[in-house]
Amino acid sequence: MKNFRIACLPGDGIGLEVMSAAQDVLQTAAEIHGGVVFDFTNFPWGSDYYVENGLMMPEDGIRQLKEFDTVFLGAVGNPKLVPDHISLWGMLIKIRRELELSLNVRPARVLRGIDSPLHSPNDFNFIVVRENSEGEYSEAGGVIHNGPDEIAVQNGIFTRKATERAIRYAFKLAKKRGSKVTSATKSNGIVHSMPFWDRIFNEVAAEYPDVETRSVHIDALSAFLVTKPETFDVIVASNLFGDILTDLGGAIMGSIGIAPSANLNPEGKYPSMFEPVHGSAPDIAGQGKANPLGQVWTASMMLDHLGLPELGAAILEACEEVTGEGIKTPDIGGTSSTEEVTAAICSALRKKADV
Ligand SMILES: NC(=O)c1ccc[n+]([C@@H]2O[C@H](COP(=O)([O-])OP(=O)(O)OC[C@H]3O[C@@H](n4cnc5c(N)ncnc54)[C@H](O)[C@@H]3O)[C@@H](O)[C@H]2O)c1
Repeated sequence: MKNFRIACLPGDGIGLEVMSAAQDVLQTAAEIHGGVVFDFTNFPWGSDYYVENGLMMPEDGIRQLKEFDTVFLGAVGNPKLVPDHISLWGMLIKIRRELELSLNVRPARVLRGIDSPLHSPNDFNFIVVRENSEGEYSEAGGVIHNGPDEIAVQNGIFTRKATERAIRYAFKLAKKRGSKVTSATKSNGIVHSMPFWDRIFNEVAAEYPDVETRSVHIDALSAFLVTKPETFDVIVASNLFGDILTDLGGAIMGSIGIAPSANLNPEGKYPSMFEPVHGSAPDIAGQGKANPLGQVWTASMMLDHLGLPELGAAILEACEEVTGEGIKTPDIGGTSSTEEVTAAICSALRKKADV
């Protein structure tokens, strides 16, 4: 029996609801596999924890997470209790930085039974590799002076090491998927970091002559993801551009509630972290309406990473069987609750074991 220790951080809002759903699906997957145990430890960190303790997570939280095989996160943020920049930097970004989760990988594709808002979605299937450790999300800068003279300076940080690491990962992924890499740039408007990004993209591209490449400005790329998403395979982007493109990916899949994501420590030095793209959705929290598919698909990516790709694939197939039968939450046009969708996924998984 192989035991996997999973640190679970449900977080805030619907994070708690979709985490519980994904844990049910993972337990069912373990039952049908018969040779693995998923050992969950739930941590109550997040906005309520902040109200009680003045911190989003304990001082030694990162040390605690390093003891696990992997980290599984729901969503963090409750703007009524804690300003978003504190909740984000005090937990999510802190974990990404301190566990050196330098790559964020986010797939987007059409799932069976889910209508895309696009008129002709044409079976798109692309994956965004987002640089996850620096770029536009940087603490370098500050605010000085007061009143009419007040000045805010926000610096972007682009290192050769991190830029090359993200781009190289995208090319390796494209070799496996056998197709092409698109680089998100904006070198016409952002005159230092983006020409640097382009130069490194071209250097790495020269090592992969059989991979088709192109650089597209982020504004046009956003538009193309709507008008012809099927023309993309791997897209590599800086931290901010990747963040925005992947919400768009979620939207054209039918709902941001479906979109999964992996935060990878590429060297395997620390555990990687898996979390859906969506946030804590305070507008629907506690109503049983949260779509669990993003968290469950994320669990499937986590199993791929833990060396259980068949089990990961079985979970995703079970999700598609359920959406194909029309069992869906309201955000994708259904009437089922989080619990009903979760129960249907577990039952579809059990049926696979019976075959
Ligand atoms: N990774 C994270 O933890 C993360 C990511 C984004 C936002 N946030 C935080 O979440 C809070 C809310 O942010 P927001 O409103 O900009 O983004 P959000 O993703 O929480 O919600 C955007 C919209 O999508 C809907 N939605 C999101 N997930 C859904 C799901 N699983 N099922 C059905 N509908 C879903 C919501 O109801 C809302 O209308 C803020 O505090 C923000 O900082 C956290």
